[in-house]
Amino acid sequence: MPILDTLPQTRFRPAVPPPLRRPLGLFAFLRAARANPITTWMEDHFTAPVVAGEGVLGRITVVSDPALIRHVLVENAGAYRKDDLQRRVLAPGLGEGLLTAEGDAWRLQRRTLAPIFSARTVRGFEGAMNAAGTHLGRRLARRAGASVDVAQEMTRVTLDVLERTIFTHGPRRDPDALGRAITRFLESVGPIDPLDVFGVPAFVPRIGRLRARPALRYFAEVVDELIDHRRAVMAQGEAPEDLLTLLLAAQDPETGQGLTDLEVKANIVTFIAAGHETTANALTWALYCLSQDADSRARLEAEVDGAADAEGLFAIERLPFAKAVMEEAMRLFPPVPFLSRQALRTDRLGRVKVPRGSLVMVAPWVLHRHRTLWEEPDAFVPERFLEPNRAAIPRFAYLPFGAGPRVCIGQSFSLQEAVIVLAHAVRAVRLTLPADHPPVTPLHRVTLRPQNGLRMDAEGR
Ligand code: HEM
Repeated sequence: MPILDTLPQTRFRPAVPPPLRRPLGLFAFLRAARANPITTWMEDHFTAPVVAGEGVLGRITVVSDPALIRHVLVENAGAYRKDDLQRRVLAPGLGEGLLTAEGDAWRLQRRTLAPIFSARTVRGFEGAMNAAGTHLGRRLARRAGASVDVAQEMTRVTLDVLERTIFTHGPRRDPDALGRAITRFLESVGPIDPLDVFGVPAFVPRIGRLRARPALRYFAEVVDELIDHRRAVMAQGEAPEDLLTLLLAAQDPETGQGLTDLEVKANIVTFIAAGHETTANALTWALYCLSQDADSRARLEAEVDGAADAEGLFAIERLPFAKAVMEEAMRLFPPVPFLSRQALRTDRLGRVKVPRGSLVMVAPWVLHRHRTLWEEPDAFVPERFLEPNRAAIPRFAYLPFGAGPRVCIGQSFSLQEAVIVLAHAVRAVRLTLPADHPPVTPLHRVTLRPQNGLRMDAEGR
């Protein structure tokens, strides 16, 4: 059933860099890749199932056929590993946490950490997410009649959620120390370093990394103190049920072994780095799309107003349209625009040979707008994600969280968080884009964010 048949034909189509007709020359490519990598995708990528090419990074095969993606990420996942590019960029800050670990070290950690993100545990974080959402709602309501830096507010609320779920009680001597440590850490490792991307050897000093050191050290000290304190509290049998307690108590279900302090620390940093900018950007894009689509906004406002309980709190089950809005925002603006893998042995994707050692990419940015997989691929249509339309989306055509053994472990955590936070924001204010706002277009910097930020006017509701 065509999803747009019953809907107005004039749906919002956010402005994005147009795909290229012809390949760029080497220097133009390097310039574009450095400035904004999503400007380098070609028309072919959005129409063909597999595109193989020789680039500056060697041979790269981009796969957008759902069955072949399943082959790479699931059925033949053992023939691939996360590539050095991702590891080089992420490893300096994240140590050997789950995101960057490989092989047996990864397998052990994944097995040990899986229960921490089970449906039941995530459900238990609803209160913390609502508390952060309530604070956001109050901050936004206070701005009614004025303008709001939406990107900044979304960053603030996702950090707030992490602080409340990782460490229910902040450091004893200074409750704000953790927030400050996280902010400094993220500011210093945040921007992707072009030297890393283009493979300059690791001994060349990187400015970002040098700056990161004091921030990392400070962060590590704060976390060490928290771990020591928590161990003491746990020994008395009265620890709160947050991610820190769960990490410290986690046991490999097969061997009964726990994580080392170093692994606990690496994973705390990993959860913060992997879980905060991604969710913040998804929320930012959702609020932008809603501001341009009066029908969706009205439908969401009605849902949210009817879903709040007596205390003004939300549960995800009562917010199906809010969930559809988040999913559609992540289709158009996937927070992780591409996943890359390195072939450990020669493979074959349809008629295309993948040489050993070469890169294979699955790019949600391309896949989610692929001309052969989506109706009206560039239009914002949250109804796609409501039943019965949703059932028609092929499983491997929509991958904001990846798939297979390395699928995002925080998927249901972040979806629950985003939906609850969105509900609080929508209930507090109506956000509109001022007429003089510079163009809102995506900039690819580790995640996808609005190039010129997102400043919006808040109207009280
Ligand atoms: C909208 C929010 C998020 C998006 C779009 C997202 C996306 C992703 C994607 C695409 C991957 C797979 C990367 C690959 O296969 O190369 C991934 C992995 C991961 N994510 Fe998320 N993520 C989000 C939120 C979170 C949150 C909230 C957490 C933790 C609290 C988290 C923790 C992780 C970890 C630890 C991994 C590595 C899993 C492994 O390799 O076993 N993510 N994420």
